[in-house]
Amino acid sequence: MSSSVITAHGLRKAFGTTHALAGVDLRIAAGESVAIMGASGSGKTTLLHVLAGITSPDSGSVSFEPSADGAIEVTALNERERSRLRRERFGFVFQQGLLIPELTAIENVALASMLNGVSRREAEHLAGAWLTSLGLAGMEQRRIGELSGGQAQRVAIARAQVTGAAVVFADEPTGALDSTTSTEVMDALLWSTTSQGRTLVLVTHDASVAARCSRTVTVRDGLIVSQAVTA
Ligand SMILES: Nc1ncnc2c1ncn2[C@@H]1O[C@H](COP(=O)(O)OP(=O)(O)OP(=O)(O)O)[C@@H](O)[C@H]1O
Ligand SMILES: [Mg+2]
Repeated sequence: MSSSVITAHGLRKAFGTTHALAGVDLRIAAGESVAIMGASGSGKTTLLHVLAGITSPDSGSVSFEPSADGAIEVTALNERERSRLRRERFGFVFQQGLLIPELTAIENVALASMLNGVSRREAEHLAGAWLTSLGLAGMEQRRIGELSGGQAQRVAIARAQVTGAAVVFADEPTGALDSTTSTEVMDALLWSTTSQGRTLVLVTHDASVAARCSRTVTVRDGLIVSQAVTA
């Protein structure tokens, strides 16, 4: 059996009287791509945020095991440690890329490494290589507003990869795109993660996006109600 990179047990999270997570167990293997599906309000984003150490659960545990050397108990870390873990080990792609509009494409990507202490020169070198691999050569100096939606999402994907993230978390990364652009963004996302041995965890409403992932997990009322492995 392949080793788990993320292991979650008994996750519960309530917002007032809403049980966003009602007891979730989930193991994610290294190199897997997992699609989380379910109706609006079912708890998908909450689950993604708890797995990624953005939100603390009320109870339950999340452990991150980047290698056989040992596991990091995400749910035992304080806020500062979790923020460092996210910055250094995880990558994030959201529906709206959350890129900085005042910065150019290359600056947006380079910033992620610079926050981890990489020099500007080295960071821009790496950022340029990722942008080129993702089909954005020649667009490095454009500001985000000067790119199409699909191009901006590929900048966000480059930014999520540049730090060497072991796990990339994406919340409806194709939610704002047409189907052709969505296919291109999924190509970029899968190529830059699973084909390099990294792990992808994404939330989507789109069955054709989920079908490209190795496994689909369906959430209802804060619980995983079914799982399907894609052939
Ligand atoms: N910060 C919050 N404060 C209060 N309630 C929240 C908060 N975040 C989520 N919820 C509630 O928890 C439930 C699950 O929300 P979540 O965002 O995880 O759903 P989702 O499956 O991602 O939905 P969508 O498909 O609409 O994005 C919802 O009922 C939501 O209203
Ligand atoms: Mg959501």
